[in-house]
Amino acid sequence: MENPWWHRAVVYQIYPRSFADANGDGMGDLRGIIQRLDHIAGLGVDVLWLSPICRSPQDDNGYDISDYQDIDPAFGTLADFDELLAGVHERGMRLIMDLVVNHSSDEHAWFTESRKSRDNPKRDWYWWRPARPGMEPGTPGAEPNNWGSVFGGSAWEYDPATGEYYLHVFSRKQPDLNWENPQVREAVYAMMNWWLDRGVDGFRMDVIDHISKDTSLPDGVVRPGSRYGDGGPHYMNGPRNHEFLHEMHERVFAGRDTLLTVAEMPSVTIEEAARYTDPARREVDMVFGFEHVWVDRGPDPWALYPLQLTKLKGILGRWQAGLAEVGWNSLYWNNHDQPRVVSRYGDDSPEFRVRSAKMLGAVLHLHRGTPYIYQGEELGMTNAPFASIADFRDIEALGQYAQAVEHEGHSGEDVLTVLRARGRDNARTPMQWDDSAQAGFTTGTPWLAVNPNYKEINAAAAVADPDSVYHFYRRLIALRHDDPVVVYGDFTMLLPDDERLYAFTRRHGDAELLCIGNFSGERVRAEIPDAEAWSSAELLLTNVPAPTGLELQPWQVVVYKRPA
Ligand code: GLC
Repeated sequence: MENPWWHRAVVYQIYPRSFADANGDGMGDLRGIIQRLDHIAGLGVDVLWLSPICRSPQDDNGYDISDYQDIDPAFGTLADFDELLAGVHERGMRLIMDLVVNHSSDEHAWFTESRKSRDNPKRDWYWWRPARPGMEPGTPGAEPNNWGSVFGGSAWEYDPATGEYYLHVFSRKQPDLNWENPQVREAVYAMMNWWLDRGVDGFRMDVIDHISKDTSLPDGVVRPGSRYGDGGPHYMNGPRNHEFLHEMHERVFAGRDTLLTVAEMPSVTIEEAARYTDPARREVDMVFGFEHVWVDRGPDPWALYPLQLTKLKGILGRWQAGLAEVGWNSLYWNNHDQPRVVSRYGDDSPEFRVRSAKMLGAVLHLHRGTPYIYQGEELGMTNAPFASIADFRDIEALGQYAQAVEHEGHSGEDVLTVLRARGRDNARTPMQWDDSAQAGFTTGTPWLAVNPNYKEINAAAAVADPDSVYHFYRRLIALRHDDPVVVYGDFTMLLPDDERLYAFTRRHGDAELLCIGNFSGERVRAEIPDAEAWSSAELLLTNVPAPTGLELQPWQVVVYKRPA
């Protein structure tokens, strides 16, 4: 079989709410994206992924959809969408949509029907359950099981109209769809085909490892200090997940061979990822695993754990090896749910922000897989200075804060410290276009405050400066397009026990690449095998003005190439 086009592709994610606001209401919109398409095309990326733009009460910023076949009026109209899609295609790029079908909004017509009566034809489209036997419905502890919601509180909402509860793994406005019901699946496939017929090029599938659940819905383990049980093992990567995705493939993707599908799967292991992405099984092209962005988590959810580079390398190295023969990796540091990587794994001080952002970009993009860039990453945008919980807008931050502080006895300061470092709003501050008011994002009042560092960090300045993170990313993308060793070279991790250097080689045919990134603020000599020969190889890329061979300067990256 011929290699698929997306092996060579780079994807750029847009979070429409925070990208560009054309109508001045403080929230980004489709016309804003249309006006900025040349910025994205200028980077050289191949695909745009749009976070959700469908009609939604915006409880979770669009990840709660009330009409899958219309655009939210805050973002624009279907006509705007068609114009955007045409603009993307004219520039030789493709566009993929966010598919949010583990749950709908509680304002979706399917759910408003479902909640009407116990015998409504749509009742079984969601997970309705009675109170625990012997308990009075709607009283504390009477929920059908002990699962907590990801956003705080119980995963069950009592609905007095029919005296039963519905399941919501996320907010109470995001009821989980019941994929056991074939009518639900058919409705989803029909909707997906409708978008593809309209011209979209694929989907990023939201928490798609949650669609098959253990139908007995058993209680989860309650961790010390936690009020609820962990339902995760019972609602992630369930018994029918592969079956459902294969069915989706047959009903939607088969016969449309230029698509790209990528499945968000917080629970996925390497072994499972190899199955999901094995082309012979016809499920999905790639998955987003979470291990490498959870590397700095620890037993206490409200403590900060510093990055251990050896752990990160262990994880990414295992994913490289695990998908080397079968399947394909996605590569990402950032998205709308993760803090900014330069603040998290790099150094966002004025001295090293640009340098460490470039180093992180190079290390990621030179792995084998398809890289994903999140808006602003190409500018080296940083985490935001949130002063208090009142500065956050994210339902996750607000919900978790309330649960931890009000019900679980954690100190507000501890929780804030973690949210400042890890909270999702760090990624969601408005895109910084220029140094004018509100960073050129809006003429109105932005829905979330602009990061005050926009005077220095913005797209206009980055495009004008040949040494910017932006132009470095452009070179990384061009390198992938031009050099098969970046796309197909096999991957060998070097120095696995080194806490400061991230080093690896890639080899393909008669060429070999060496990439070494210094994850520290110190000078470090790279004691790699064959150092002598490498130091006289061609230096393709670095991020310092005066390179010092294999003695790496703080946050430096080097990429060498030689005949194999
Ligand atoms: C995914 C999304 C996240 C959302 C959640 C529920 O993890 O990326 O933003 O809150 O699913 O839809």
